[in-house]
Amino acid sequence: MPRNTSPRLFPLGGDLPASRIGYGAMRLLGPGQWGPYPHHDDGVDLLRGVIDAGVNLIDTADVYGPHSNELLIHDALAPYARDVVIATKGGFVRPRPGPHVTPIGNPDYLRQCVHMSARRLGRERIDLYYLHSAWATDASFEDQVGTLAELRDEGLIRHIGLSNLTADQLKTAQAITPIAAVTAHYNVAARANQDLLDTTIASGAAFVPWQPVSLTTPGDPTDTTGPARLHQVLAPIADAHGATIPQVSLAWLLAIAPGVLPIPATTRLDHFRANLGALDLTLTPQELAAIDDLGTP
Ligand SMILES: NC(=O)c1ccc[n+]([C@@H]2O[C@H](COP(=O)([O-])OP(=O)(O)OC[C@H]3O[C@@H](n4cnc5c(N)ncnc54)[C@H](OP(=O)(O)O)[C@@H]3O)[C@@H](O)[C@H]2O)c1
Repeated sequence: MPRNTSPRLFPLGGDLPASRIGYGAMRLLGPGQWGPYPHHDDGVDLLRGVIDAGVNLIDTADVYGPHSNELLIHDALAPYARDVVIATKGGFVRPRPGPHVTPIGNPDYLRQCVHMSARRLGRERIDLYYLHSAWATDASFEDQVGTLAELRDEGLIRHIGLSNLTADQLKTAQAITPIAAVTAHYNVAARANQDLLDTTIASGAAFVPWQPVSLTTPGDPTDTTGPARLHQVLAPIADAHGATIPQVSLAWLLAIAPGVLPIPATTRLDHFRANLGALDLTLTPQELAAIDDLGTP
C-alpha cells in the first residue's frame, strides 16, 4: 500500500498544528556555533521568508549561540503570527566555541532555562519545549521530566518534547507526563534511532528528525548527496522525478508517517523553498523500499 505523504499539518500534542516540514535555525550562528550570525539582516530575511513560504515550525535551542539564535528569531518574527510554533530546548551549556556541550538537568537550572528562553523569544508560553538530552547526571531523568511538567502546569510551556534519548527513556517519561514530540538524528543514512521513531509514532507523538538532509556524521561537513552506496540509489530516484536528492531524502521521511516532521536547516532561502518541494513528491512503493534497504548494513 502506498505510504501517505499528506496532510501538510500535524497536530502537535493533539491541538497545535505544525507544518510537516519545519525549519531548523541552528545554522544561523557564528563560527563554532558561538555568538550571533554574522549576517544578521540576511538571517532575519531568511526566517521571514520561511514563514512567508507557509512553514510555521521553527526549531532552535538556548545552547545555539548560546542564546543568539533565539534572539535572532525574536528579531525576525516578533510580533509573532498567531500560528507560529517555536520549538526550543534546554539542558545543555556550551562553555566555549565548538561542538562540546555539557548536559545539566537540575530543577533550578532547567527552570531558569525555560524562563530565560521565554524572555529571549518574547513568548509568554513556549509552544514546544524539549529537554535537549537525557544525558545529564546532576538530576535523575525522571526529575528532569517532572520539572518540565511543573513548568507546563505553571503555564510556561504548552507542550513538552524530548531530544536525544532512548525508546525506553521515552516510555519512562510518558509514564510521568504527556510527551508531544521527540527529536533525534534520523535520515536516509542514519537509522540508529529506529526504535525511538517507532515508539514515538506508535504513541501518537511527533517524531522530528534532525539533520534530515545532510548524510554525514553529525559535526562533519555537510554532504546532502551521500556517499557512493547511497548516491547510487538516491540519484536515479531523484532523476526519475526531476527532483533533488535533498527532496528525495525529505519525501522518504514524510512518507514514514504523518507525525514525522523533518526540520532541514539552511542559510539559503532558495534551498529552503526547494526543500519544500518534497511535500509534492510522492515516491513509488519500489522507491521507498529501495531507500528503506539503505538502512540495512
Ligand atoms: N536536538 C538536537 O540535538 C539537534 C542536533 C542537531 C541539529 N538539530 C536541529 O536540526 C536542524 C537540522 O540539522 P542540521 O542543520 O544539522 O542538518 P541538515 O538540515 O540535514 O543539513 C543542513 C545543511 O544542508 C545544507 N542544505 C540544506 N538544504 C539544501 C539543499 N536543498 N541543497 C544543498 N544543500 C542544502 C545546508 O547548507 P546551505 O546553508 O548551503 O543550504 C546545511 O549545510 C538544525 O538546524 C537544528 O535546529 C537538533
